[in-house]
Parts: sequence; structure tokens; C-alpha cells
Amino acid sequence: MSRIKVLCVVGARPNFVKIAPIMRAAASRPGLDFVLVHTGQHYGADMSQSFFDDLGVPAPAINLEVGSGSHGKQTGDIMVAFEPVVLAEKPDAVLVVGDVNSTLACALVAAKLHVPVIHVEAGLRSGDRAMPEEINRVLTDQLSDLLFTTEAKAADNLTREGVDAANIFHVGNVMIDTLHHSLSRAVAAQTTLAEEFPDADAQRLGNGFALMTLHRPSNVDDPKILRGLLGAVGEIARTLPVIFPMHPRTANAMRAAGLEAGEGLYLLPPQPYLRLLGLLQAAKLVMTDSGGLQEESTALGVPCLTLRENTERWVTVEEGSNTIIGNSPDALRRAFADFQAGKGKPSRIPALWDGKAAERIVEVIERRFSPATPTAAGG
Ligand code: UD1
Repeated sequence: MSRIKVLCVVGARPNFVKIAPIMRAAASRPGLDFVLVHTGQHYGADMSQSFFDDLGVPAPAINLEVGSGSHGKQTGDIMVAFEPVVLAEKPDAVLVVGDVNSTLACALVAAKLHVPVIHVEAGLRSGDRAMPEEINRVLTDQLSDLLFTTEAKAADNLTREGVDAANIFHVGNVMIDTLHHSLSRAVAAQTTLAEEFPDADAQRLGNGFALMTLHRPSNVDDPKILRGLLGAVGEIARTLPVIFPMHPRTANAMRAAGLEAGEGLYLLPPQPYLRLLGLLQAAKLVMTDSGGLQEESTALGVPCLTLRENTERWVTVEEGSNTIIGNSPDALRRAFADFQAGKGKPSRIPALWDGKAAERIVEVIERRFSPATPTAAGG
């Protein structure tokens, strides 16, 4: 029996977290041959290799080593590099995850070569086309033959955009699969604090801290917005110290704007997955513009203030611990005051965020692409 060959694409940090359980689930099925392709959108130890180490993702079979660039250049470079790979490998399908430039670039290459596209984390919509990720989501879903969703609303978004309901499967959240799989190996926050900070600071942080990440262009590219946010965070940090692992984009933006962290704000380089997980578990509060952290804090029941005007992950707001507050300094001050006053919201874990999404995904793929299934070719 010939195996079902699927090229699985990763490019950026959140992709590595999402692909890990899928590669693991596929490895236990002899009928599946999942081949990992890294576009190289994120590179280096901090942004890429540490995730492969922490998550036990096999080394990519193919690395396109595309690197950074403007949107057009990065997306185009990935397409040029990925096309010959698809032609040579002749996969039965190309699987993409999430919403980064690598996701769209590889979906587009596959669709043009008439190779079925599988999208994991389909149907999320913020409604904000100023976000590069929203463009990537909408277009990737239009190109996809099989669409796996994390929350109920996603299927409504897809059917509204004309996607055939027969191709949509609500399977749960692979990012939360990884969280479940990794919790027992998370690096305890006190270990990270002791390693990273002088004793007195580690002790202060040990009494409670907020965890913050910021990297969206809408928050960090305009120095005025970044300065305003950091000002409000500096005030918060006098009451509750803030640990801030910094994405390279943010570090560059702070350097360019001559901004420095104030007292109570503790900077770190981008953290490996297992260390970030330990910090997240111990945090009293999360402040973020990351999609992943909105979901992970919901899964762990940690209150989360999202520093964006919108979200595409509505279940984290409607059911989880997430509150959307925008990016004005005043809104952040108010939201923190509410948090301090104990005005938290009840939160529960969304349906199917149970650690088994990847199993469901590979089962559907095996069924759909099995040579015995007459409809396999068209997806
Ligand atoms: C990308 C994703 C975003 C995701 C984020 C997670 C897109 C459009 N955006 O944003 O959805 O939340 O990854 O981290 O795909 N850089 C490095 N080293 C790296 C990678 C980037 O120094 O390994 C710096 C470079 O200066 C680069 C900048 O970060 O120009 C931005 O990188 P890029 O991949 O374009 O987008 P991200 O902001 O990381």
C-alpha cells in the first residue's frame, strides 16, 4: 500500500508549536508519511531551534532558509523556493498551519500546482484587514480543500465565505495539544527567575508578576504608541512587576526609538517554549498581543488582557480568560485597576481543547486521502 505523503510547512515560532503534535500523531500511523518543510521565516537559536529542541519536533527534512524581508519579498521568496520542492516531492497534499506569511505562500504554491491544501486553524477572523495575518487567513482558507477549526465560530466564518461545509472539521486546538503534552516538562518559573535575575529581583518577582509580550506592528512599529504602552506598563510595574520577553522586532523598535525599560519591568530575550510555559503558569496576569498567548492563558485560566482592538480568537473572550482592551495607555490602566479590584471574569476551557486535536486531524486526513476513497483526489 502506498503511503499518503503530506508536506507539512512551518515558518515562524507559533507554527512550530502547532506542528509538533501533528507530526507526533502522524508518526504513529504507518499509512502516513508527513514530511516537514521549514521555510526559514524565523531562524536562529532563540526564534527557531529552541522550539524544535523543546517540542521534540523532528529536524525539518527540507529548509528553504528564506529569512526576513518585507511582506512581498518574504512571501515571494518562500513561493519561489517551495515550488520546486512540491514538484520534486509530489505530495498528496500540503498542510499549512496558522496565519503567517509562510502559511499563505505555501498554500498558494500548492493550489497552483493542483495539490490539495490542508489548513489547520482555519476560519479565524478578526475582521481587521490591516493585520497581515488576516489577509493570510482569508486567502489561505479560500485555497484550502480541507479546513480544521479550533472554535465553533470559525465554521460560520468559512461558510459565509463560501467554503463547503463538508470540508470543515471542528477538531480543537493543536496549540493546546502541545501545552498538555509539555506541562509536566515546563521549566519552573523560579528556576528561570534565579537564572536570569539578581537574587533581590528574583525574590521580588517570586512574590508575583505579570507576563507581557508585544510584537504586533500596530503596537511596536509606531514609537508614539510603543512609548505610551510602555509608560502605562511602567506604572503597573510599580504595583506588580512585569516580565517582558522581547521579540526581535520589538527589541529593534525600542532601540530605534531610544526607549528603555523602566523600574519594575524585567526584560528577557525571546524565551524557549518550556521556559515561557513555566512563566505563564506562574503569572498572575498576562498582557499580550500574541494569538497563542490568548489561547494558552485561557487553557490555564490565567487572566489575559489583549493589547489589540480586536481578536480572531473569540472563544477566548466569550468563554475563556481573555479581555480585549485595545492599545491605549488609559485602557490598560483601567483594565489593570479592574484586575487589582478583583473584577475578573469567570472562564472555562473551550470545547475540544483537550489535547487530542492532532489525533482527530490525522484521522480525517487518512480517511480523506486514502486511495480507497473515491473522492480523495479533489480533496
Ligand atoms: C511573524 C508572524 C506573526 C507571528 C510572529 C510570531 C507574519 C506576517 N507574521 O511575525 O503572525 O505572531 O511571527 O513570532 O508572518 N527577526 C529576527 N529573527 C527571526 C525572525 C525575525 O531577528 O528569527 C526580526 C527581523 O528583524 C524581522 C522581524 O523580526 O524583520 C519580523 O519578522 P517576520 O518574520 O517578518 O514577522 P514577525 O514579526 O516575527
